Amino acid sequence: MDIFVVQGGQKLKGSITVGGAKNAAVAIIPAAILSGDICRIENLPTISDVEVISKILVQLGAKVKRISSSVIEIDSRELNSTQVSQELARNMRASYYMLGALLGRFGHARVPMPGGCYFGVRPIDQHLKGFEALGAKTGLRDGIISLTAKDGLKGACVPLDVVSVGATINIMLAAVRAKGLTVIEHAAKEPHIVDLANFLNSMGADVRGAGTDVIKIRGVSKMHGATYSIIPDQIEAGTYMIAAAATGGDITIKNVTPKHMESISKKLMEMGVEIYEYDDSMRITRSGPLKACNVTTMPHPGFPTDMQPQMAAAMSIAKGVSSITEGVWENRFQYVEELKKLGVNAEVQGRVAKFTGVEKLIGNHVKATDLRGGAAMVIAALIAEGETYIREIYHIERGYEQLIDKLVGVGAVIDRRTVPDDFYSEKTGKPDGCNADCGCN
Ligand code: UD1
Repeated sequence: MDIFVVQGGQKLKGSITVGGAKNAAVAIIPAAILSGDICRIENLPTISDVEVISKILVQLGAKVKRISSSVIEIDSRELNSTQVSQELARNMRASYYMLGALLGRFGHARVPMPGGCYFGVRPIDQHLKGFEALGAKTGLRDGIISLTAKDGLKGACVPLDVVSVGATINIMLAAVRAKGLTVIEHAAKEPHIVDLANFLNSMGADVRGAGTDVIKIRGVSKMHGATYSIIPDQIEAGTYMIAAAATGGDITIKNVTPKHMESISKKLMEMGVEIYEYDDSMRITRSGPLKACNVTTMPHPGFPTDMQPQMAAAMSIAKGVSSITEGVWENRFQYVEELKKLGVNAEVQGRVAKFTGVEKLIGNHVKATDLRGGAAMVIAALIAEGETYIREIYHIERGYEQLIDKLVGVGAVIDRRTVPDDFYSEKTGKPDGCNADCGCN
């Protein structure tokens, strides 16, 4: 297995270019099949989630051609299967977007329950409620979700009971090809929902209101291919902003939409970080101490839940007591136990975590518990004295492109090392006897 080895203590300085948004890419790639034509998608992040969702299309009969590291061409003219394989679906959460996309194009779909990061129960009742409102019959047997709309899909009003990114996207995907008008109420407003709507419209769909809580979709009978460039990744940009802030560095982030970063910038400024905004870049620098702050995660435009673990890493050395209240997921603090191994002083009670700032963190062996929890380990390791060894990095690589290269480019000392699969004791989470060639003491 591969691990990251981070030598902490460097102040990050220089510039980092952010890639395309992961959560937009994993919705836009399935959406391309609605065209039944050729689509060219640009500014894709080079991450494993994009590989997996592309493989799903290929398995269904589409042709996916890689034009460059960030550009693919999807030819879905001959895509003819509507059954996604278990092996691919369980690798990621967004495999469930094949439900809406296949239902929209063919009127039926069979997709296994998705995988993805574990934050407690992740229900899909709102997705199913939406499909049913459009006239589909839904079923779940042996972990496979099946959808059938024998008489075709018909537009309907879908008032969501919870603001759900996934349900909003899935209903949009199905509704673009339904007969008549669909209205999604209490829709999610994340930047990638707007990006998906723009992509659907570029293929001939009629989607209005994305970015507000009411989205209106007038179904069209035919769509066509398009060329589309994905927005920059808000969470990747935010992660590097926090890395700069936490290490007391000075970083310019390029290919970013400052408007998408407002809730994150506001909190960092409260913590004493200086932020300068330009058209499509931002400079983040800190010279004074970090101050404590309180964060509550909320759907967009609130503070993103996908940024709270990284924020926790910065809070761990902020003067005073900081808190994070998780307003989206029931159980998103598993990473805190790992942070504690680096000397973080934290206490979790239900959906609230409190962090009492400490003078310094000290390197140790930790694991990435999930994608953003993994990013928090990297940031904490960059602050920590000595070496930190991060395992289970496949979580991180699902969502961060060229993380090591980008961080090394701004002065971090971090590399990827291969160790035997049984290198770590399951019981202690440390190398057995700690006498193997890992470099730790
Ligand atoms: C997406 C993101 C994820 C992010 C989350 C919230 C992708 C691939 N993943 O996940 O990184 O953390 O948005 O910004 O884009 N819920 C229900 N019933 C449903 C659906 C959701 O009760 O049918 C609840 C969930 O349990 C959760 C809340 O709604 O409490 C938000 O979930 P949702 O916005 O759907 O998250 P995802 O789309 O899965």
